[in-house]
Amino acid sequence: MAGTDNLIIFDTTLRDGEQSPGASMDIQEKIQIANALNDLNVDVIEAGFPIASKGDFTAVKEIADSIKTSRICALARALEKDILRAADALKNAKLSRIHTFIATSPIHMEMKLKMTPEQVIKNAVNAVTIARDNAEDVEFSPEDAGRSDFNFLCEIIEQVINAGATTINIPDTVGYNMPHQFGELIEKIISNVPNANKAIFSVHCHNDLGLAVSNSLSSVLHGARQVECTINGLGERAGNAALEEIVMTVKTRRDIFSCDTRINTKKIMNCSRLVSSITGFPVQPNKAIVGKNAFAHESGIHQDGIIKSRETYEIMRAEDVGLVSNSLVLGKHSGRNALKQKMEQLNLKYESEESFNDLFSRFKELADKKHEIYDEDIIQLSNNVQLSGDDIQLISMSVVCDSSKKPYAKVTLDIKGKELDSSAEGDGAVDAAFNAINNLIDLNIDLKLYSVNNITSGTDAQGEVTVRVLKGEVIVNGHGADTDIVKASVLAYLNAINKIYHNPNLESKKLSGI
Ligand code: KIV
Ligand code: ZN
Repeated sequence: MAGTDNLIIFDTTLRDGEQSPGASMDIQEKIQIANALNDLNVDVIEAGFPIASKGDFTAVKEIADSIKTSRICALARALEKDILRAADALKNAKLSRIHTFIATSPIHMEMKLKMTPEQVIKNAVNAVTIARDNAEDVEFSPEDAGRSDFNFLCEIIEQVINAGATTINIPDTVGYNMPHQFGELIEKIISNVPNANKAIFSVHCHNDLGLAVSNSLSSVLHGARQVECTINGLGERAGNAALEEIVMTVKTRRDIFSCDTRINTKKIMNCSRLVSSITGFPVQPNKAIVGKNAFAHESGIHQDGIIKSRETYEIMRAEDVGLVSNSLVLGKHSGRNALKQKMEQLNLKYESEESFNDLFSRFKELADKKHEIYDEDIIQLSNNVQLSGDDIQLISMSVVCDSSKKPYAKVTLDIKGKELDSSAEGDGAVDAAFNAINNLIDLNIDLKLYSVNNITSGTDAQGEVTVRVLKGEVIVNGHGADTDIVKASVLAYLNAINKIYHNPNLESKKLSGI
């Protein structure tokens, strides 16, 4: 089927992306990202690896139950129990895919799997047969294909296509290949495998040498018609190919690529910000397409050129990736209609009039502290819906930072209707505030990540804080934003604590005072 004009975009932010060290997401966050990917119009969403944990299974299931446009894919090793678990998670999906894989490089077969090449083929064929019994659409990946023996690769691919695989994904698992080499490999596979016309060829490139996007695009030029990628290039180690770079390259260089994607590129920025905010991984300012500077022009010569003709220094339009050119928008005198109009412009949705009211009152609070409200502020407000029904709420807080003394914080919380306060010292203002909260709420949690990102520039900018805490084996993320970063940190910490308290799968110790 190589030669079709549609380049299938297979997003693996929720699976390979989540494997980034320190990028775990909770179920609600995965659902939020899946909805954003569906809005972006990605063809396939790899939602997770259901056998890996109960949380992974539930996330894939809930995504499969609710997403109706994109195809939902679940990953499974070439093992019957993995495949059946994936099939179970996908059973209510409108469109589903089982993705099964086994390693094919000599080093992986000998050292990791301790299998002979014949055993690997047998397992792969068996896995694809079981997957086909459970799904119409089956993808097979020979893991570490980029370092596998060419003839062996062709042989296993021929056999899994005969067993019913409909997509063959060629991963450069360790990011070892060069663009010309990887593209040629794809072309050679397609022309050597006798039944290649019965499958779509895909690539999955890692970024260890910074070549993931180049390798993927070279493969597209050589016949690949699916690219596996992630928002912001998230992924195991140095990450995967960045979705936004693949999509915008193919769109911008239509003179070179004979295919295009179905992606609604105007939603790219929104998705990028959401993933960054949920994972707490800021996007570097000079990152292609979605970095803060990607469409900024600093030098006088460039600014002069842009004023005379945009094309002098811009090959893409900022609006096409979802950046609204005039980003300074609202202030404290702006009303409900202005906010609604702005949200529409930014493609932001709210679920009900009640949630809009909540957003509007948070917008007013922010406008009181910060005179100029930028698009980024509004996106942040809309992505981080605070739950007024939370059991634990911040009533007030104060911190004392005196360079000659240990930082000190006092917090007053509403814990299920009861007002309680506590104070503590710490190594810094945030540490002191968290210690004061821990005095009131003993949940035995471990803080795994604390990240602050400024949403806009200036000292009055909102700081967006992400915390990641571990409770038993469950990871929970908390988010908070405020112009005061200590308060943003406290809000993020309480957000995580409320999630733990509401999670039925967690045996949380009772909160003191309840
Ligand atoms: O990098 C890799 O090889 C993978 C496979 C599971 C496709 O992520
Ligand atoms: Zn991978």
